[in-house]
Amino acid sequence: MYMLITAGPTREPLDPVRFLSNRSTGKMGFALAEEAARRGHVVTLIAGPVPLSTPVGVHRVDVVTAADMAAAVKAQVDQCDVLIMSAAVADWRPAHREPDKIKKHEGEYLLRLTRTEDVLQAVAPRKGHRFFVGFAAETRDLLAEGARKLRQKGLDLLVANDVSRADAGFEVDTNQVVLLDSRGGQEALPLLSKRETAARILDRIESRCAYR
Ligand code: CTP
Repeated sequence: MYMLITAGPTREPLDPVRFLSNRSTGKMGFALAEEAARRGHVVTLIAGPVPLSTPVGVHRVDVVTAADMAAAVKAQVDQCDVLIMSAAVADWRPAHREPDKIKKHEGEYLLRLTRTEDVLQAVAPRKGHRFFVGFAAETRDLLAEGARKLRQKGLDLLVANDVSRADAGFEVDTNQVVLLDSRGGQEALPLLSKRETAARILDRIESRCAYR
């Protein structure tokens, strides 16, 4: 199958030297890309700015902002069989990007933010027979929020990730996730390496795609 996988954070520039971003390191998405390629799938990995090397056999497209990420996904989604959105795409960006470095002054500096596009919602009308997988990064109400995103974003599978834990989610090599299936199934995986978690997610995708 042709798998389009996104990974890492995005950066939303404020001026030439500053940006807004998040703690995503891209490790989960890169582990998915590596394991998918090892299994013989054709993989394009759309990566936010992370210092990780490209897994063997993977075609990599580097992006910086949420708008870049949206454009790269839109350019590829019609060709793919499976879309896995593991990237932590910024929901907000500075309303204005200052052309010169913002200089400090006394008192407060008020930052105005504006919404970015939701990539999964933007490509939902083009889903067709494709298998769409989303992630949910949550600090509370993991299952309820995961179920809401599964439904609202029209996904086949949602990987719910409690990012408040020290041993799961951002910046670590292990993860503990719950797989929520559009058919109503729910599977809590144990604490595993991100590589093993990737393998379990791909097992689920492959078995769902084989029976469609
Ligand atoms: N996502 C996306 N475009 C965005 C933000 C998120 O496609 N602008 C995708 C993520 O890649 C992930 C899923 O949507 O697969 C859920 O992301 P998450 O950050 O958990 O949730 P949000 O949609 O941002 O919702 P909320 O702010 O309510 O947590």
